[in-house]
Amino acid sequence: MERILIIDDDYAVFRTLATLITRMGCEAAWRKTLNEGLSEVEHAAYDVVLLDVNLPDGSGLDVVSRLRKVPSHPEVIIMTGFGNPDGAEIAVKNGAWDYIQKAASPQVVTLSLKRVLNYRKEKCRLGTKPVALKMNGLIGSSKPMTACFDQLARAASGEANVLISGETGTGKEIFARAIHANSSRCNGSMVVVDCAALPETLVECLLFGHEKGVYTGADKARQGLVAQADGGTLFLDEVGELPPAIQRVFLRVLQERRYRPVGGRNELPSNFRLVAATNRDLDKMVAEGRFRKDLLYRIRTINITLPSLKDRLDDIKPLTLYHLSKLCERYGIENKSVSPDFIDAWAIMNGREMSVN
Ligand SMILES: Nc1ncnc2c1ncn2[C@@H]1O[C@H](COP(=O)(O)OP(=O)(O)OP(=O)(O)O)[C@@H](O)[C@H]1O
Ligand SMILES: [Mg+2]
Repeated sequence: MERILIIDDDYAVFRTLATLITRMGCEAAWRKTLNEGLSEVEHAAYDVVLLDVNLPDGSGLDVVSRLRKVPSHPEVIIMTGFGNPDGAEIAVKNGAWDYIQKAASPQVVTLSLKRVLNYRKEKCRLGTKPVALKMNGLIGSSKPMTACFDQLARAASGEANVLISGETGTGKEIFARAIHANSSRCNGSMVVVDCAALPETLVECLLFGHEKGVYTGADKARQGLVAQADGGTLFLDEVGELPPAIQRVFLRVLQERRYRPVGGRNELPSNFRLVAATNRDLDKMVAEGRFRKDLLYRIRTINITLPSLKDRLDDIKPLTLYHLSKLCERYGIENKSVSPDFIDAWAIMNGREMSVN
């Protein structure tokens, strides 16, 4: 039976959560302070810790990494007060699984718990291997890639904003698609926005849509990409190219999950999940004043950095064979193989590039 520890000084919160947890067939325990909670997880094994932020002896956010390090390595879910997820986002960056609002509906809490428990079950079953994922053509068995698949599984199980960074061709888009395909939003749309190709004059219309008659030729109202991503995933590709004026507007949209169509009076809601990708060094862009710090902070709740091929030479062979067989299929020709020398040459070329750099 899975065991869940609730660290919260409010008995009413414990009682509500304990009812849900018992209904799920799990066991709930309660500790009122950080110190009592820490000492409990050091002595007994737990799968999940539901952690309040404001506790009598300190902030829950400060102990996430300590909780994660105890022998049973419980996953930590932060419980926040209403409408202030900022600290909780930092906690997710520092290893918390997810955050939920204390006022969240029983369904939201149960869903978050179910996801985290499934993840632990799979992880336990597979040992150190990544959890079962729909790979959708995503290839890799090298150590760095396996670590990325694990991050992908975590990202797909939650709702936090994800930033995928890596050099050109490392698979940022295919990863973003896999996050969507493995998430609870997989039946919604994945809307791709190529920020590098957004014409500055039309960007707001494209993202937020417009009302009828706002400019010559706007003979009817049009939905924007943010609205299309409602219930699904919004993928901001090349997010470093987002024009500064739009960075400011988008920050608000991200905080509120609401947008205003061009020429519209009212804001409209869109429940999208954000995944962004970049091959730029966004921290450097922030230092140079070219990217908003607050926006970077928001979009990088979970950060997945994809390694370049030279750091995962073991993946060359499976990647080559996979894409070769895809090509043969596409052109309707018999499947071909490659000589071992070809793979060796690839590895040597990449290895040489590594030593030059
Ligand atoms: N792990 C992988 N498994 C299978 N194919 C991959 C993998 N990584 C990359 N590819 C293939 O390499 C190509 C480039 O991948 P993708 O477009 O996702 O890269 P990217 O990081 O978005 O690149 P860019 O910065 O140029 O946009 C695609 O054809 C993709 O299918
Ligand atoms: Mg790309």
